[in-house]
Amino acid sequence: MLVPRYHQVFDLTLDEIFNICLLKNKIWQHTMESQLSWWKKNTSDSDHFITLVDGPSTVAFLRLRDREILVENSSYHAKCVTEVCVEKSMQRKGLGSILLKAAKNKIDESDSGIGFLICLSTEELFYKASGWSSLQAEIQLKSSGGIKRSLKNNEKCMVLNFEAPESANIVLCGDIF
Ligand SMILES: CC(C)(COP(=O)(O)OP(=O)(O)OC[C@H]1O[C@@H](n2cnc3c(N)ncnc32)[C@H](O)[C@@H]1OP(=O)(O)O)[C@@H](O)C(=O)NCCC(=O)NCCS
Repeated sequence: MLVPRYHQVFDLTLDEIFNICLLKNKIWQHTMESQLSWWKKNTSDSDHFITLVDGPSTVAFLRLRDREILVENSSYHAKCVTEVCVEKSMQRKGLGSILLKAAKNKIDESDSGIGFLICLSTEELFYKASGWSSLQAEIQLKSSGGIKRSLKNNEKCMVLNFEAPESANIVLCGDIF
């Protein structure tokens, strides 16, 4: 069984970053050049990463970002999971679930223990299978530039260790979800 590896920005080598971008580029095809420049632009010193490595290849990856959830007048620290991906030929073999279990361990260790992520409705079952719940509320996403947008009809906000009344107005703060 593949064992998850945890990384912070300072301990990822250039080769490891390249291999992660290679995997991401097989799932979300751009060019390697744009994957690498996106990585540079959108990576913060506080990010954490989880990988599954098989021989020379990185076959699964996710990132945990420090984010904030506003509920009415209260603010909560939270870990936001992004870029969850598994090598196409290795999907539906449990690797995604191994990644999510490792992410849950990190989230449980964090100060608030709260996790959230935005996914397409079609991916909801995958997260539910690992214990995440769909948050039913009025949800808005707010970038650091202050631009707000509502959750789209085909998007879900999945949460761990977080509840709010359905009538609550919730704002998820951060540039990347
Ligand atoms: C989504 C993804 C990460 C799942 O990884 P995976 O390794 O295939 O998932 P697992 O094998 O651990 O699946 C665990 C359970 O989740 C559910 N599940 C997984 N993929 C699913 C899918 N496409 N549709 C419905 N349920 C799914 C199933 O219940 C599955 O259990 P089962 O295979 O016994 O039925 C992977 O398919 C992927 O990389 N997709 C492309 C990138 C992507 O869409 N990422 C999500 C960004 S938010």
